[in-house]
Amino acid sequence: MSKKSVPADAPKDGRDRVCEKRWQGALTTDWFGRPLFVYTELSSTMDKALELAQDRAHEGALVVALQQTKGRGRLGREWVSGEGGLFFSCILRPPLHKNAQDTAQIALAAGLAAGECVRDFSGKHPWIRWPNDVLLDGRKIAGILVEAQQQSVILGVGINVLQTGNVPDDAAVLSRFAEEPLALESVLNAFGNRFETWYRLWLAEGFEPLHRALRFWMHGVGEPVRVTVGKTVYEGQGLGVDESGRFLMRMDSGAQRAFEQGEVTLLRPLSGDKR
Ligand code: BTN
Repeated sequence: MSKKSVPADAPKDGRDRVCEKRWQGALTTDWFGRPLFVYTELSSTMDKALELAQDRAHEGALVVALQQTKGRGRLGREWVSGEGGLFFSCILRPPLHKNAQDTAQIALAAGLAAGECVRDFSGKHPWIRWPNDVLLDGRKIAGILVEAQQQSVILGVGINVLQTGNVPDDAAVLSRFAEEPLALESVLNAFGNRFETWYRLWLAEGFEPLHRALRFWMHGVGEPVRVTVGKTVYEGQGLGVDESGRFLMRMDSGAQRAFEQGEVTLLRPLSGDKR
């Protein structure tokens, strides 16, 4: 039998029980990742998590895939999901999740958690590019996708951790910045602990504490930026997020505009800290 062939008695559900046990053992969270399912390969962890949610899985249930064949990002984009990346989706059941603003705020809570987690392992300050990207040295290192269903919210996160090839040119990989060798499960655990804190705060106090924290994380603040919404492009100066999580821009006319959706890009590359 070659090393890679699957033993005849291996479970047919696609889960990697050995890995799963190790990852469960690495978790120090209260509810995030409880229970935790690790699959060798899925089309997308979002779909598996949605299935679990429809089967009444509790808040915190988490699906990891070591690879995805149809990893997806925002706006129907592909999320390249080869070996070495961390890909997971967590079921959330916030009491008031029914509107788009709440999903956007959950995405920003996850952005803070991912930013802190990347900083912990890289020793460098990442930046959050509204609404859902984490950048390190000007390159994307993590992406967040939040999909709301009737009874649940699925939080999907992809973090480039150990990939050695097959990442887009504009992507950063955490292991290239870390001094110690990294394990995917340690990064998941760090994210989970950070996310629990922000999510708990958000549930208890609303968006205000996150809004305060985000001041230190937002990419494009004080810089000339472009916000693209569908086919429409707006230009002005980035001002950060407002008290509900929308991106604020001062237009060239002097008026302020708040965006609920869109994509932010810098109008000129930064020298210095490469936000
Ligand atoms: C984005 O940057 O547009 C969001 C990317 C989100 C990718 C993660 S990987 C785990 C989960 N499963 C998916 O198919 N997508 C999310």
